[in-house]
Amino acid sequence: MSDLAAHADRAGIDHYCWPQHDIERQAADARPTLHYRDAQMEIHRVVVGPFDNNVFVVRCRASGDAVLIDAANEHELLLDLCAQLGVRTVLETHGHHDHIGAVPQVREAGYDVLVTAGDAHMLPSYDQILEGDSAVEVGRLRLLTTITPGHTAGSICFKVDGSPVLFTGDTLFPGGPGLTRDGFEFREGKPPPAEFPCGDFATIIRSIDELIFARNAPETIVMPGHGDDTTIGRESPHLQEWIDRGW
Ligand SMILES: [Fe+2]
Repeated sequence: MSDLAAHADRAGIDHYCWPQHDIERQAADARPTLHYRDAQMEIHRVVVGPFDNNVFVVRCRASGDAVLIDAANEHELLLDLCAQLGVRTVLETHGHHDHIGAVPQVREAGYDVLVTAGDAHMLPSYDQILEGDSAVEVGRLRLLTTITPGHTAGSICFKVDGSPVLFTGDTLFPGGPGLTRDGFEFREGKPPPAEFPCGDFATIIRSIDELIFARNAPETIVMPGHGDDTTIGRESPHLQEWIDRGW
């Protein structure tokens, strides 16, 4: 992994919905997909599509059951990964188009797609609604859900119960929050791209402060929807800087 501090600096300068810095593309067939492992689970990662979306597979080591987070793009690659790793279900962190490009194909292949009620209208189709403050069971694993509005109305984070891992989608990146309408306008002097309808800065800051930083230990590893991992302890001291800069 590249140096996280340097990465966070770069991300703080020029990212919004997705980080715009150089991300080394990861070809699933060129290097292993295993990204993290502990006693109860494995996490696999591939990076797909024109916006370098992270797609994660969380797999219970005891049962072999697995879930895929964000059917973003490159459906053939994702379907291979699903077949190899025992995926049964797909969870969507939010409904932006770069995170849902493979939803039709994974549904057609028989995988249920879950999305929050707040973002369900952004998908061409889905199977079930994801609730906040609940748990998605994956074998013996439990993914604890928290709806964190701001980037979109129905953005959701998943914390793996018993492991220091939090999937934040586009709500929290190294170096700050994801894209918001007014945050983008403040920074860029123009509205965000039409294909990224999004929420507001005060809401995403409240979500990050009260629902992410306040509820997760500093050592918690944050795995975002684009770019590298970070930790709660690395990001939380910078909250006021983000508020002061306005994006
Ligand atoms: Fe997004």
